[in-house]
Amino acid sequence: MRAIIPAAGFGTRLKPHTFSLPKVLLNVGGKPILGHIIDKLLAENITKATFVVGYLGEKIVEYVKDFYPNLNAVFVTQEIALGLGHAIHVAAHTIDDEEIFIILGDTIFDVNLSEVFDKKQSSLGVKTVPDPSRFGVAVCENNKILKLVEKPQTLISNLALTGLYYIRNSALLVESLNELFDRDIKTQGEYQLTDALQLMIEKGEVFSTFQVDGWYDCGKTETLLSTNQFILKSKGTNRNVSGSIIIDPVFIAENAIVNNSVIGPFATISENCEVNESIIKNSILCPSAKVERSMLDNSIIGINAVVKGNYKKLNAGDSSEIEFY
Ligand code: UTP
Repeated sequence: MRAIIPAAGFGTRLKPHTFSLPKVLLNVGGKPILGHIIDKLLAENITKATFVVGYLGEKIVEYVKDFYPNLNAVFVTQEIALGLGHAIHVAAHTIDDEEIFIILGDTIFDVNLSEVFDKKQSSLGVKTVPDPSRFGVAVCENNKILKLVEKPQTLISNLALTGLYYIRNSALLVESLNELFDRDIKTQGEYQLTDALQLMIEKGEVFSTFQVDGWYDCGKTETLLSTNQFILKSKGTNRNVSGSIIIDPVFIAENAIVNNSVIGPFATISENCEVNESIIKNSILCPSAKVERSMLDNSIIGINAVVKGNYKKLNAGDSSEIEFY
């Protein structure tokens, strides 16, 4: 089975970090988002992958080749990001198997994939969400998908598509993507994968669903930080740093320097970072960031960025109330 990983988007919602790094390479829990995804695929013996790249794509190619030399990786370029349907269409010529697994490059998930791949029909990962209007949704009966709708205007289902697509009939998917373009079917200005899958249903393909309880989106600062929390909870390292207090779970790279600081909980301190006399919780320090005499919470500090603060000098009298915002 071949995995197809769309990773060509701009990551606009994660600016300024995505000015210099594609979203899928942002570090979460000590590893780029894409690294977590590839590890999960390799654990399932999926060794063939097509990466759809575009914006800053050369950095993705370099990362995959450097860190996963044994992965049978193919890279295709989506010159203009016209939507997920377009991304898969661009990758269509690399499909060499009947079955494919499409996974968005910015989604970390916790699902037993072996169970999914044992299924006899195509199957899409879903999760019940309170407001499905910004997702593709599945209308189901007895676990069979009757209809798929991208970004529905009215509440027709709470089952959102999570970005995990197991397709058993890839030839029909390609046929449906071709039709999407021939008929110029767009939703909200984009060629949507959901619309191509709906065409597959209309052509008789049977889709079931599988529950994705662990769905960790990395598209926005808040979701990147909550995904960081999830990863650290499950895989955080226990590292002692003499002279500093570590509140687990945290990730502190082997070569990061930490002096006289309080780190954690939920702090990722990447390779070559330096932290001096600081308190850092619920934050991600990207590689080579430097933080000095600062208190950080809910923060993402980019590669090579430097943050320096200072301590307050106070002469506070008895019963005074002082608040710093
Ligand atoms: P998103 O729409 O969430 O990612 O697509 P984005 O476009 O990078 O982010 P924003 O909206 O600008 O903040 C989900 C995944 O699908 C890929 C993206 O790279 C991301 O991994 N994608 C999306 C493509 O590869 N091509 C597209 O045309 C659209």
